[in-house]
Amino acid sequence: MVTPKTGNNPSPHISVLYQEVLEALQIKAGGLYADLTLGAGGHAKGILDANSPDGKLIGLDVDPQALAIARKVLNNFGERANIIQASYLTLEDQLKYLSWKKLDGITLDLGASSMQFDTAKRGFSFSHDGPLDMRFDPRNDLTAEMIVNNWGKQQIADILFQYGEERRSRKIADEIIANRPITSTKQLAELIKSVIGDQKSKIHPATRSFQALRIAVNDELESVKQILHTSIKCLAPGGRLAVISFHSLEDRIVKNIFRDASKPVRDSADPMNRIIREPIVKLITKKPIVPTEKNIKENPRARSAKLRVVEKCAD
Ligand SMILES: C[S@@+](CC[C@H](N)C(=O)[O-])C[C@H]1O[C@@H](n2cnc3c(N)ncnc32)[C@H](O)[C@@H]1O
Repeated sequence: MVTPKTGNNPSPHISVLYQEVLEALQIKAGGLYADLTLGAGGHAKGILDANSPDGKLIGLDVDPQALAIARKVLNNFGERANIIQASYLTLEDQLKYLSWKKLDGITLDLGASSMQFDTAKRGFSFSHDGPLDMRFDPRNDLTAEMIVNNWGKQQIADILFQYGEERRSRKIADEIIANRPITSTKQLAELIKSVIGDQKSKIHPATRSFQALRIAVNDELESVKQILHTSIKCLAPGGRLAVISFHSLEDRIVKNIFRDASKPVRDSADPMNRIIREPIVKLITKKPIVPTEKNIKENPRARSAKLRVVEKCAD
């Protein structure tokens, strides 16, 4: 077991809960690891430092801009770093291609990166004026602009309510329909602000709606459910899965899937209520790990981060 000595974040972009993820994974020299949301490669570099000299990593991301940075950050690791532009939903195929059977650890750092938020033309942020894009993967067709200008009122209200927990979803949807076409992030943010008003809340009035649109554009919640099950399946006994989420909808999914996988399944039709499936994982974090004040100061995006960890049981 190698305890990472890397107190400093190595990437040009500050990774959230960096040290905490590396400690949670209990990285073994020579082990096989996956960073399924590679971003700028911060967590991945920490893993490759710790599983040296011959451990390997597969790093997946759908964003070519992020991958270009990650390739530079991980360049010195040569063939130990397998960097691939692909969705994490392809994990099983990627492992087959590499002829890797099971993984010793997997990490997922969900949501958009600071780099994506700060790049106006990606359209993730109401703070920078840009096109209403919000795609992690620019090869996909669906954009936020298409939703805002083409979807029906009910559909828009539903996503704002379900994915943003926005109480004024119907009123915002009404205003969107009345003001089409809406083409820029600032235009949409101003329109939402005109509906909600300048409340005393610490967050911008458009925060929840922007989150909802991003989740819809990238089908984030369904993808997260799927990859959590796949990740658990791909772990070797004793292997760990460390997941960072950034909002309550995502965290609830992680918490529930981890809890269910950590319990035995009993046959409810059986009068003896016998166990038909033993627990698949052990919960390592009963409560989520949250960032330190220092981490939040370095990267304000860390504010709402929660890290949950499980360990795969023996087969
Ligand atoms: C919060 S960032 C990761 C930051 C990274 N841990 C670091 O240290 O720099 C999340 C990344 O996940 C990527 N992503 C989102 N959906 C994805 C998917 N389905 N498959 C692979 N990557 C995805 C985004 O493009 C983004 O770069």
